[in-house]
Amino acid sequence: MEFFLKIVAPVQSYDFQTFFHNLLLSLPASALLGLLLFFILGAFSGLKSKEQRLYIVIATTIVIAFTAAFYNLGVPTETLFAVYSEWLHLIVRWVHIIVGVAWIGTSFYFNWLDSRLERDDPDFKHLDGYLWSVHSGGFYRIEKLKGPPKKLPKVLHWFKWEAYATWISGFVLLILVYYLNASSMMLGASGIILTPFQAILISIFLLIGSWLLYDYLCKNVLKDNEQTLIATGVLLFILLSYFLTQIYGSRAAYIHVGAIIGTIMAANVFRVIIPAQRNLVSSAENKQKPNLNLSLEAKNRSIHNNYFTLPVLFIMISSHFSFTYGAVNNWLILAVISIAGILTRHYFNLRNKKQYKFWILPSAGLIMFFLMTLSSLSIFEKKDANASLSLELVSFNEVQNIIKYRCGTCHAKYPTFEGIEAAPKGVVYDTAQDIVNNIKLIKAQAIDAEIMPPNNLTGITKNEREILKVWIEQGANINN
Ligand code: HEC
Repeated sequence: MEFFLKIVAPVQSYDFQTFFHNLLLSLPASALLGLLLFFILGAFSGLKSKEQRLYIVIATTIVIAFTAAFYNLGVPTETLFAVYSEWLHLIVRWVHIIVGVAWIGTSFYFNWLDSRLERDDPDFKHLDGYLWSVHSGGFYRIEKLKGPPKKLPKVLHWFKWEAYATWISGFVLLILVYYLNASSMMLGASGIILTPFQAILISIFLLIGSWLLYDYLCKNVLKDNEQTLIATGVLLFILLSYFLTQIYGSRAAYIHVGAIIGTIMAANVFRVIIPAQRNLVSSAENKQKPNLNLSLEAKNRSIHNNYFTLPVLFIMISSHFSFTYGAVNNWLILAVISIAGILTRHYFNLRNKKQYKFWILPSAGLIMFFLMTLSSLSIFEKKDANASLSLELVSFNEVQNIIKYRCGTCHAKYPTFEGIEAAPKGVVYDTAQDIVNNIKLIKAQAIDAEIMPPNNLTGITKNEREILKVWIEQGANINN
């Protein structure tokens, strides 16, 4: 028994007897809550099935009972909350990626499909086009009709839940990662936004406001002038990136640009594309002509969404690249990479129309190359300048002290910084070896990009960053 317990829970001080005792005690109340949930869920039309409700309720009851048992055992609520929210974060992020892949995947697929349809076959003049493909053990033949079918099929598939689920999971992530940690994750060093509450309010306002502005511009002002619309869009995008990097911390700024574009994309589906398809279906049912304006607008929005995908995907992975969001001119980097992404998308869209403008791809590549060079000039240059400065060896003791007080309050096995319950991202600096193992990350986060500590909460000075830098340049020797 002891051996088994050691494997499942290698925690020495654990008192399993008390835990199980607590678990038993918390079961009746949890079951009562579960019962309540059973009836509440029954009120929703989508969950009439007793079996499904029962499964949900049993799972919830177990979660509540375990939580209560942990609590009664003396685990502080903040610790429980921190652990639960980290795992929730993981699951929501996972879901967000899965549904996002499904959304962008179907969108890419239908774009491609439309461009590859066989349209010139004289034997199939009654069709808009058809296409043969082979995939996963079978041949598929897809036909696109010229108008609606004479009789609507019983089952007609729509593609909308991918978009809605991506937006919903994205918004939950925004809450979990940013709103719930607003003071460290959202506030910028500039101090323009003073309280977490203001930061969150501005975020919600921007998400809604940007959609309203975009929708208004598309519908009214720039209706027939595509070029003006594109120019205005790019300009607004750059302004938005600039504005956000001025008011928020750098990562929050990037993610908000992404969240705003994502919201526009999902709202395009919800407010324009799906209503147009509804109109198409209902007019087919009633044998009326569909509203052409709606279809045209839907097509436009669909094209916008198509161009938005590459910038949004870059923003979603940007948090792994601190040299982008952490740079001094991070808004410019965001804008330029997005333009390179949009150009690349444009090349493929033209290719789908059988226009081969190959020069676009190397141009996008060159834009990225110049961006890399320009944004790294300071890194290239500083190396030489410091060679003479670093004659005197920096002692490891000094380095360890800086890290202990400026980073170690959060990045420790047992963090002491209020509100941090576990070492963020598992990054720990307790021992000399920890520091050596993480040297690259320290350099990236605290020296090259100056994004750690978040919002400089522990007040690291320029001089201290310089000491860390020189120590690393001198070979990061712990025996100095
Ligand atoms: C106030 C608490 C706090 C302090 C102080 C702090 N950090 Fe962090 N650190 C965080 C949080 C929160 C994250 C996770 C951010 C995220 O979700 O990506 C993090 C993430 C990191 C990461 C992982 C980044 C990644 O995405 O992989 C590194 C490396 C890091 N910090 C280094 C440092 C260094 C070096 C210092 C000291 C100069 C420092 N931190 C000080 C809170 C802190």
